[in-house]
Amino acid sequence: MINDIKHEVTAAVARGSADPFTFEKVSLQSPREDEVLIRIVASGICHTDLVCLRQELPVPLPIVLGHEGAGIVVEIGSAVQDLSPGDHVVLSFNSCGDCPSCASELPAYCYNFMQNNFSGCRGDGSGTMQQDGEAVNANFFGQSSFATMAIANVRNTVKVRKDLPLEILAPLGCGIQTGAGTVFNSLPVAEGSSVAIFGGGAVGLSALMAAKIIGAAPVVVVEPNMSRRALAVELGADHVIDPFCVDNVVEEIQKLIGGVDFSLEMTGIPHVVRQCVDILNPLGTCALVGAAPIGAEVSLNIMELLIPGRKIVGIVEGSAEPKIFIPQLIEYYAEGRFPFDRLIDFFPFEELNEAVKAQESGKCIKPVVRMA
Ligand SMILES: NC(=O)c1ccc[n+]([C@@H]2O[C@H](COP(=O)([O-])OP(=O)(O)OC[C@H]3O[C@@H](n4cnc5c(N)ncnc54)[C@H](O)[C@@H]3O)[C@@H](O)[C@H]2O)c1
Ligand SMILES: [Zn+2]
Ligand SMILES: [Zn+2]
Repeated sequence: MINDIKHEVTAAVARGSADPFTFEKVSLQSPREDEVLIRIVASGICHTDLVCLRQELPVPLPIVLGHEGAGIVVEIGSAVQDLSPGDHVVLSFNSCGDCPSCASELPAYCYNFMQNNFSGCRGDGSGTMQQDGEAVNANFFGQSSFATMAIANVRNTVKVRKDLPLEILAPLGCGIQTGAGTVFNSLPVAEGSSVAIFGGGAVGLSALMAAKIIGAAPVVVVEPNMSRRALAVELGADHVIDPFCVDNVVEEIQKLIGGVDFSLEMTGIPHVVRQCVDILNPLGTCALVGAAPIGAEVSLNIMELLIPGRKIVGIVEGSAEPKIFIPQLIEYYAEGRFPFDRLIDFFPFEELNEAVKAQESGKCIKPVVRMA
């Protein structure tokens, strides 16, 4: 039983892995001393929401998902110092603040990442939401942004400038940050680095935009969806490949540009990992970013990894410290160098289920639902 319930909220509740979201009235607690209550203006839909909805990455049901929220601060906890009611904020992933990774300003690799983002409650196990006296799992990525209001921790609430629409900034909290951060923060991509991006969704195309800012070249994008390949070319890809129309993706890339210094796995499909490793130059690095189903494995040729000194590295949220990185990305956007708004299609909040279908069918790259 949760005490101190104050705020009546409309939330999109996920009740079953094959069910659509249902719009329900729920109650939200007031923020604790290190928390903030936010009126959500818009939320992006990330593929990870769908991975959790389908229980490929199991989360407790019923749950309120959504982790690319943006909105306006309504109320702050007693210990919150750098935020005030009325501030515009983008919400990102949560972290514990106490572990060695958090102490090293690498909160994406928080030792308690799963508990703080996927458990359906706070890091200490307490809940934030209920309905008719029953607990509803929430606090997904420290926010649960598929709702008209959310509670977030100060650690995952990023104050942003007010002269840009929150509905455009919303997806910076996860997908866009992850793709761009993989290139800017996680890997030593430099001017002239060769890069192969597998998957031209929101994450892959954000990585492409970041690679172009750095001056990486050549950059090849492997993506079966024709309109996404066309957008990749507009965003500066030197080559695009339809993996379903060639016999061997690795050989196709080799014919075009040879091997690559960096390969980015941004599909979550296990067999693509092998392609990402096989295309690497000596000392090249394969970044695993796509969320594969829990338990998925892949086979690799050990000596082909060892002799050329190839590396494989797992990457969370582009290794970002969101309070630093999201404002940086917003500056690139404002300068016209990081046009991530080209990935977005807007839907009313009530059409969340339609927006999910549009993302799953490939019709829409980054759906954003608008609450207001
Ligand atoms: N590691 C992290 O911190 C993190 C953060 C956000 C998202 N993710 C994950 O990253 C992945 C990408 O997210 P997204 O929002 O861009 O999803 P998305 O579904 O929009 O993008 C995946 C793309 O891969 C393409 N694809 C399918 N088969 C392919 C193949 N054989 N070769 C190449 N491309 C293929 C799809 O057409 C699609 O465009 C997802 O698995 C998501 O869960 C991870
Ligand atoms: Zn931590
Ligand atoms: Zn995400």
